[in-house]
Amino acid sequence: MSLHVVDHPLVAHRVAVLRDATTGSAEFRRVSGELAGFLVYEATRWLPTRPGSVVTPLGLEAATSTLVDHQPLLVPILRAGLALLEGALTAVPTAEVGLVGLSRDEDTKQPTPYCVRLPADIASTTAIVLDPMLATGGSLAWTCELLAERGAARVAAVCLLAAPQGVELMASRCPDVDIVVAALDPDLDDRAFIVPGLGDAGDRLYGRV
Ligand code: PRP
Repeated sequence: MSLHVVDHPLVAHRVAVLRDATTGSAEFRRVSGELAGFLVYEATRWLPTRPGSVVTPLGLEAATSTLVDHQPLLVPILRAGLALLEGALTAVPTAEVGLVGLSRDEDTKQPTPYCVRLPADIASTTAIVLDPMLATGGSLAWTCELLAERGAARVAAVCLLAAPQGVELMASRCPDVDIVVAALDPDLDDRAFIVPGLGDAGDRLYGRV
């Protein structure tokens, strides 16, 4: 497994906005989406390409070009992952979208699945899982294992924040998954929230349920 922490001023500034307790839901959603675009940009560096040629407006010699040869499957983990979807689609507009709904049990911290909607055949697909928070790692590992069981050719993950515990779990359960994050925080608190983190991403995005 590889972990890529994106080191860029435009990413760092947006992380600061999300961490700020005074940032309201509308701005939190907007900035989360913008970050998703940057992170998916990084997570898709390895996408296969094919050479092509295009005629420019000058109409003389065709210019050689590079074209993306594979459209990935984006898989937001509901709820909070939904906030990353539109931003991810700006980077890969023709991607397919599957959905996984998980709720983390407050006591056991284990993910409880309540929704899975994926294309029937993902055998030759690259899947990119979207979830703002990689805390204990249980939710991301469950989803990545599901995609691997369904035969996904490659699985990557995009998260806004990660904790070392989640990174370690992913390394042991999903060693083939590449993870791109905006920041790696030092720890989890006793509720398994990332600290210093940004609070409860789902609640800040969509309110308490
Ligand atoms: C949060 C978060 C991740 C998960 C991370 O979701 O959005 O999906 O917890 O925790 P983990 O790494 O320990 O599994 P939550 O269960 O609160 O649901 P929500 O997105 O509906 O708010």
